[in-house]
Amino acid sequence: MRRLVSETRLHPADLVLPVFVREGVTEPVPIGSMPGVVQHSLDSLPAAIAEAAAVGVGGVMLFGVPESRDALGSGATDPDGILNVATRVAREAAGDALVVQTDLCLDEFTDHGHCGVLDDEGRVDNDATLERYTAMALEQARAGSQLLGLSGMMDGQTAAVRQALDDGGYQDVALLAYAAKYASAFYGPFRDAVESQLEGDRRTYQLDPGNRREGVREAMLDIDEGADIVMVKPAGSYLDVLADVAAASDVPVWAYQVSGEYAMIEAAAAHGWIDRGRAIVESVRGIRRAGADVVLTYWATELAGWLKGGL
Ligand code: PBG
Repeated sequence: MRRLVSETRLHPADLVLPVFVREGVTEPVPIGSMPGVVQHSLDSLPAAIAEAAAVGVGGVMLFGVPESRDALGSGATDPDGILNVATRVAREAAGDALVVQTDLCLDEFTDHGHCGVLDDEGRVDNDATLERYTAMALEQARAGSQLLGLSGMMDGQTAAVRQALDDGGYQDVALLAYAAKYASAFYGPFRDAVESQLEGDRRTYQLDPGNRREGVREAMLDIDEGADIVMVKPAGSYLDVLADVAAASDVPVWAYQVSGEYAMIEAAAAHGWIDRGRAIVESVRGIRRAGADVVLTYWATELAGWLKGGL
């Protein structure tokens, strides 16, 4: 009876798995702050994709961890850069079984760790960064990415990338705008995962955690600029923003259950302080209930495997 009257169901196709791929390694490298998550090698990536596809996961979101970095994040626009190479490998492995999407941001590739390029005074230069993003978008599209995840929070990035893709003949590549991305402490373990070089913070371009209306405003701007999907991130501490965006949006609304949300449940479970399986299901279901059509979660493959009978 409870199942029959449940208002929110979980389905494997509503889950997307974020995947890290590291340049220059031959074996997967465990990430200390994210037990159970690894930096994949190009060799171990196809099996991870096959495993996700076998349980019906909707997509994978690729992040690159380059061997070397510079001020412009040159690796991001190099066709032989790790993310672009990984995209080709992933498309080959995925076939039509799931969608291959890519993170479109410079922070993994810059030696200062910011999401954009810097001006003479060391501030992030919004408009100069847009030029890097459009070049990056074209390389990702060329590599076969089907959905570009615009996570850098530069003003005008969605419109700039859409225009560049249209001009380049890539009208079929879709855009996922990280519309409401908050300056969050919950990204901590991710920065380990990508070996971020960041000192300081991203508060000049990511949203203030106290601002709810502004999150909706950012999502509406991105929809106007041509976003096919908008995202709220992190998820668990921003369910009110997610509900507001879901009510106002006429495109799909996704949410990212980020590295810190993952690490907290894993750490508590490792101590025996929380029922791991129930906490995972409840946390993802709560995000769906608040209004997310799809959830990006590091548990995507494992959780999808539990969902055969539906949850
Ligand atoms: C930026 C990006 C970040 C995350 C996804 N894309 C990091 C940041 O803005 O600092 C965080 C994801 C997570 O914490 O799981 N490329």
